[in-house]
Amino acid sequence: MEVVCIGCGPGDPDLVTVKATVFLKNADIVFAPTAREGRPSIALSIVQKYLSKSVEIIDLIFPMVKDKEHTEKYWKKNADQIVGAVKSGKKVVYLTVGDPSLYSTWIYIQREIASHHPGISFKIVPGIPSIFAFAAQAKIGLAEGDETLGIIPACYDLDKIKRTASSCDTLVFLKDGRYFGDIVNMLGDAGFLDESIITIAQDVSAGEEVLKQHSLKELRHSRQTTEKYFSLMVAKRQNDR
Ligand SMILES: C[S@@+](CC[C@H](N)C(=O)[O-])C[C@H]1O[C@@H](n2cnc3c(N)ncnc32)[C@H](O)[C@@H]1O
Repeated sequence: MEVVCIGCGPGDPDLVTVKATVFLKNADIVFAPTAREGRPSIALSIVQKYLSKSVEIIDLIFPMVKDKEHTEKYWKKNADQIVGAVKSGKKVVYLTVGDPSLYSTWIYIQREIASHHPGISFKIVPGIPSIFAFAAQAKIGLAEGDETLGIIPACYDLDKIKRTASSCDTLVFLKDGRYFGDIVNMLGDAGFLDESIITIAQDVSAGEEVLKQHSLKELRHSRQTTEKYFSLMVAKRQNDR
């Protein structure tokens, strides 16, 4: 009794691993996370072409809210549904965008199943994370030599973000471009000089990709960040350290 989690990569179906395509082709049931009823699953749209015609696709809703009590109910309900499918003897696959280990819904599902259904095992197929697809598109190195790299969810505690930012040379901000403006205003306090390079990307490798590069000073004045959820921002420190 096993569930296989597939990292579907950042958006381009050609960036799905060969190993993932084998599991996708043989799957009987595919669970596809989405934030709202009726909203197509992005992970599913990436891998759809690898699925067999007879596959059963089941959307699972993961509301994008910070109320933990509310979201935990959905994790449990979704995990129970997956367990039911596994117990029926079907080949079950769970999809997630990018890599399963980075801010993914799979982490909650795995924890839920492991603690309540110890007889069910997991296989995880890694995917290309958005961060590395971004670096390839922007043609930039994220870290070299003794430089440190911080990966930060932009929509949480700004003081905590500032502490992390202060100790890293390169920062990658994920999750919700609406917060990038606040981050830009904070970077100076974290020791990033005006010449530091900030790159903002939307929908990397997913069709209508946007990639913009500015100095911190330009961005502070132009305020041109992004409102999109599928965006990320990378800040490379220029300083006198
Ligand atoms: C819940 S996290 C999932 C990260 C994913 N597991 C990964 O490995 O990239 C979602 C965030 O990842 C980033 N993201 C994922 N795919 C992206 C893409 N194709 N273009 C830009 N950002 C992306 C965005 O910051 C988005 O808000």
